[in-house]
Amino acid sequence: MSNVVVVGTQWGDEGKGKVIDFLTEFAQVIVRFQGGNNAGHTIVVNNEKFIVHLIPSGILHGNKKCVIGNGLVIDPAVLIQEIRDLRSRGIDVNTNNLFISEKAHVIMPYHKRMDHAREKAKGAKCLGTTGRGIGPCYEDKAARTGIRIIDLLDKDVFLEKLKAKLVEQNFYLEKLFQEEPVDLKTTYREYLGYAEEIRPYITNVSLLLDRAIKEGQNVLFEGAQGTHLDIDHGTYPFVTSSNTVAAEACIGTGIGPLKLDTVIGTCKAYTTRVGGGPFPTELKDEVGDLIQKKGAEFGATTGRRRRCGWIDTVQVRDSVRINGLTGLAITKLDVLSGLDKIKICVAYDYQGERFIHIPPQLKVLENCKPVYEELEGWQDNIMDARDFQDLPAQAQAYLKRIEELVGVSVTLISIGSRRETTIVLQNPFK
Ligand code: GDP
Ligand code: IMO
Ligand code: MG
Repeated sequence: MSNVVVVGTQWGDEGKGKVIDFLTEFAQVIVRFQGGNNAGHTIVVNNEKFIVHLIPSGILHGNKKCVIGNGLVIDPAVLIQEIRDLRSRGIDVNTNNLFISEKAHVIMPYHKRMDHAREKAKGAKCLGTTGRGIGPCYEDKAARTGIRIIDLLDKDVFLEKLKAKLVEQNFYLEKLFQEEPVDLKTTYREYLGYAEEIRPYITNVSLLLDRAIKEGQNVLFEGAQGTHLDIDHGTYPFVTSSNTVAAEACIGTGIGPLKLDTVIGTCKAYTTRVGGGPFPTELKDEVGDLIQKKGAEFGATTGRRRRCGWIDTVQVRDSVRINGLTGLAITKLDVLSGLDKIKICVAYDYQGERFIHIPPQLKVLENCKPVYEELEGWQDNIMDARDFQDLPAQAQAYLKRIEELVGVSVTLISIGSRRETTIVLQNPFK
């Protein structure tokens, strides 16, 4: 029996979906614990591409329990659409394989409107959010005025909460942002409709997981976003509004910390970021363009072009510590094939001072210059490698150097988007 957490070590989009789908074979339960439909996790099976935003990436295996924990913010319309889309593509989603926490918070129309209005008001200084209402929904949760999934099942409670909320939200929308207010009746009816559709899936997730763990089942915790988008540990304020790190696997599902055995950090062989914020190793040249094109680096949720750069071991080193990583899953190594030289950022230089950890001040981080080591690249196509020894010596050396610099072993290597293009050095479930 083993319980495994998978998180992102960078700014999201590290290939968590691919890694989760691969590891699902060895688990019985797969659970999301934070975020919402700002996430876009891609899975490729039999050359068919699926992108899930709320439903765990284990769903394609059919017979696994996929769980949405209390730590999420759920847009019910998106969830219902996702269930429909999967069904229309032959994936069975039913009350035996999908479970939704009664305590998760609900994204309401005013959250989305506020998200857009705030970004618009910030102009050039905007965060570049996904516009899905994630931040405003978590704000309400913290303000103790949020609407939870369970509230939707009680018409009176829901009406009372919605009425109170609209007094406040419509004031902001109309008076502060000159936006259209949200209509009570329309919203109330719309959400009661959603409630009926999702009612059969709603459950006590903490109890469900406790039982599964007691029965000796393997639970796989699926992180969303990445460590440096974490509200506490990320490049604040250019972060998302939830805790994205491994510890949240407990808080966002209702299990104790001693239940976790292994924490795997997914890490691209280079770095990407979508949205605003500092990015010390960003490449604004033809190498950056090449990686962007070869890696098909477009956002899985918003379709935005992802900013690309070299791997940053200052960043990943911090992720190893903050998450207590026991292993690294390096993804998209194949994208680097064909480059003459590959750079690794080993430290930052700030006005002559060396940093090997990310400084907390945005102003300082924005002015940090990466200190690089240059390694030989490789020309071979590596997508057919199935063993570490199959990789070119230069690729092996690259991975070994990353291990040394961040202080944790590479336990999985991904060399393509399909399940088969995976090299397992150490299976966390075995
Ligand atoms: P996530 O948000 O962490 O799940 O990552 P995304 O799905 O947003 O982005 C990762 C992208 O890279 C997707 O298009 C995946 O299909 C693709 N991908 C994952 N692993 C690999 C890999 O090893 N090689 C290549 N070429 N593509 C990969
Ligand atoms: P996955 O799970 C990459 C980024 C947004 C923006 C910031 C805040 O697919 O890795 P938000 O809408 O959350 O308030 O936006 O966070 N962001 C992501 N970037 N991958 C994600 O998820 C992201 N989820 C949010 O682009 O910069
Ligand atoms: Mg993604």
